[in-house]
Amino acid sequence: MSRRTVYFSGKFVPETEARVSIFDSALMFGDMAFEMTRTYNRKPFKLREHLERLYGSLKLMEIHCGLSIDEMERLTLETLERNLPTESEDMDWQIMHDVSRGPMEIYRTSFPEGIGPTVSINCWPQITHMGGFASKYVSGVSLVIPAQQTLSAHQVDPKAKTRSRLHYQMANLQAARMGAGSWPLLLDVDGFLSEGPGWNVFLVRDGVLYTPEPRNILLGVSRRTIFDLAKQLKIPVQETNLGRYEALQADEIFCSATSYGLVHAATFEGQKIGDGGAGPVFRRLLEEWKTLVGVDFVAQAHDYAARLPAWLAQQSSLNR
Ligand SMILES: Cc1ncc(COP(=O)(O)O)c(C=O)c1O
Repeated sequence: MSRRTVYFSGKFVPETEARVSIFDSALMFGDMAFEMTRTYNRKPFKLREHLERLYGSLKLMEIHCGLSIDEMERLTLETLERNLPTESEDMDWQIMHDVSRGPMEIYRTSFPEGIGPTVSINCWPQITHMGGFASKYVSGVSLVIPAQQTLSAHQVDPKAKTRSRLHYQMANLQAARMGAGSWPLLLDVDGFLSEGPGWNVFLVRDGVLYTPEPRNILLGVSRRTIFDLAKQLKIPVQETNLGRYEALQADEIFCSATSYGLVHAATFEGQKIGDGGAGPVFRRLLEEWKTLVGVDFVAQAHDYAARLPAWLAQQSSLNR
């Protein structure tokens, strides 16, 4: 059995015992806010920013989780502390927060202990996610525009990070039909580029960095990190409306997200971006990011990829 521990609605429990009820509003409506933070050198990166976004999502969804942001931060650090000894010291972690309003009132009689919000904080070693991702740092990714559009701020505002994600899954399915391994870059209702199912997008043209304005997108913590790094590197940034046309004229395109930081796009809609490799602006940002976090996370991902088969075998023996 896994030796990991989860904070689950007031208690620390073994990972295998953390269960969201079938009567939870999360299951009924996708009514759950979440966050994904990662560690570098086993220290959470920008945890407070992730928690501020989580509390922003909760406010929009009118969910009262029963914990102040300071309490949530303390419990997060405690959950991580409890899990660190289950892996070697060179393992970094994903930290996931999931918060729903809990089981629905109509099913109250199934919960003699009472009902309240569901709050889960779990930690998972980065080896599976980043080991599986490592080769993309070399190959880059292929971006396509799916038929599925993103939601607009006047529908369910994408600034809230919620588990209501069917539109992203539809986009993934459509992208897969457009080419194995393709990543969908969704348009918004006005036909402008918005974001992917778990990442923000940047274009580079003549040394200037362009990214969709903060309207129909999640305001990524990594997007903000790119802004900060670009400032240090004196690379101008513009938040603006961008379409297919601008993407096709771009010298570089890349995606940003918490788990992998940033990855370049080799193609957009089947056409090569630059020479298909990582461009100079992307490379400068990547190096600056590594310096910021004190980890060569690309080398780390390759190391995890090499160790992944042994790690998976060891985990299945624990589960036997
Ligand atoms: C829809 C969407 N956009 C963008 C991002 C990137 O956000 P961050 O950089 O905070 O990971 C995510 C992350 O999961 C996401 O789900």
